[in-house]
Amino acid sequence: MAESERTRTRERDAPALDSYEKQLRARAEFQDRQMMGPVVIRSTDREFQLTRQAHLKYYLDPTSFKDTPLQDWLVFVNDVKKHSGKHRHQGGLVIYVIEGRGYSIVDDERVEWEAGDLLLLPIKPNGVVHQHFNHAPGEPCVWIAFCHMPIMDYVAMEMTQIEVMPEFKDG
Ligand SMILES: [Fe+2]
Repeated sequence: MAESERTRTRERDAPALDSYEKQLRARAEFQDRQMMGPVVIRSTDREFQLTRQAHLKYYLDPTSFKDTPLQDWLVFVNDVKKHSGKHRHQGGLVIYVIEGRGYSIVDDERVEWEAGDLLLLPIKPNGVVHQHFNHAPGEPCVWIAFCHMPIMDYVAMEMTQIEVMPEFKDG
């Protein structure tokens, strides 16, 4: 019997795991991630992506990086070159400004920020419409967002794109 056929036979014969066994396996995998997963996410391990909303580099993203110990956080850098797209989602997250100066339009209110500042998006009944701008396009303007996803689930966060970042349409 060919090796590949033997493998297929073994897979077919393997009993399906019941829910309890899956839970045991999931907990063991969780423990493995805590013991062995990377605890320093190098900047060089991640790449910027041109997205509908912005130029983003995700350090933690449970949908893409399943090896990190912390799977409940979304942590990403936004390199605001000119301005982001505009979207609406629930607040409850924080944005730390790493470099440069800019401003955000948050529910029609303009809020200024610069390196070292912390921008908060409040939790409101219908979420928060927002868009981010670089004060000096061509100069660095970078922030990082920290978003704890269980909070987003509990406040039933939805995301709606209202305007697409121009570079995305042009690219
Ligand atoms: Fe946002």
